[in-house]
Amino acid sequence: MRFMFLLCILPSVYIVYMPYWCMSLTMATDTRKRVALVTGGGSGIGRATAVRFAELGYSCVVADIDEPSAKETLGMLQTPGLAVQVDVTMATSVEAMVTAAVQHLGRIDCAFNCAGIESAPAKTADQQEDEFDRVMGVNAKGVWLCLKYEIAQMLQQEPVVSDPAKWADKPDVCRFRGARGSIVNASSLAGLVPLAYTSPYCASKFAVLGLTKTAAVEYAKDGIRVNAVCPGPVATPMADRVLELSPPDLRAKQDPKLFPVGRFAAPEEVAEAVCWLCSDACPFTTGEHLKISGGI
Ligand SMILES: NC(=O)c1ccc[n+]([C@@H]2O[C@H](COP(=O)([O-])OP(=O)(O)OC[C@H]3O[C@@H](n4cnc5c(N)ncnc54)[C@H](O)[C@@H]3O)[C@@H](O)[C@H]2O)c1
Repeated sequence: MRFMFLLCILPSVYIVYMPYWCMSLTMATDTRKRVALVTGGGSGIGRATAVRFAELGYSCVVADIDEPSAKETLGMLQTPGLAVQVDVTMATSVEAMVTAAVQHLGRIDCAFNCAGIESAPAKTADQQEDEFDRVMGVNAKGVWLCLKYEIAQMLQQEPVVSDPAKWADKPDVCRFRGARGSIVNASSLAGLVPLAYTSPYCASKFAVLGLTKTAAVEYAKDGIRVNAVCPGPVATPMADRVLELSPPDLRAKQDPKLFPVGRFAAPEEVAEAVCWLCSDACPFTTGEHLKISGGI
């Protein structure tokens, strides 16, 4: 009788668990150290994120146009990694960064495209054409080039499942948890709302959201997630430079006393959100932008 019962339920067990078993055959289980790549890793938010990735056990590729600062960040990490000099405005340089990361660390699980520059403060009619090109080159084209080469690499990687046992009774979820990679781009609050005197910067950060959401829908079925963060004011060297150069009326608006939380964010507070978006904790989150602005 017990044998008959087993014979009856076995096919249904097989049907329920078959996708998971099939997946186990085609996807690797993720037992190795994960690899994160951070552009703009030599300063501010990028540096804090590389440090946080390393605290979480990732091996890190710290990439920056300023090689000494990238090396300095690497020296702050708890895990072994790699410092790479990159100019995100040049395709050959970005391709070489991705190649170096894969040669040294095997694959790229997560990428944070954080390299960015501010624009000189001026109203639109007073902005210079070469300033527009410079800012769009780093902030928009740079993110596009990073996406292009990172995604090309991720498409070649086997999908990995970080914790198959945890999802064994949810075969559908498990199917989606095979991840080739996760990318986060640095947009800004200025990518969501206008910020006077910063038309090139604002345009570039709105563009980052367009790039993020387009790539997200293009590669969702390949197991590659693409999201963005939109921080408000963060206490970094960039923020110091912006404040110093801003005209008095713009500087007055940046007074932390006017913000709901009453202060700038620490770069570590953005880093934490980036690491969460990159992690396997949010497999259904793609094409999103996360505003981190202390209520602004
Ligand atoms: N600080 C803020 O208030 C704030 C707010 C919202 C968004 N952001 C964005 O966050 C990102 C990081 O900003 P941050 O405040 O840490 O700035 P930061 O100036 O401290 O760091 C930026 C890093 O990018 C690097 N970089 C610049 N041009 C590069 C290039 N062509 N190739 C490679 N690396 C390059 C710099 O060398 C520097 O290390 C930027 O994209 C910025 O626009 C900053």
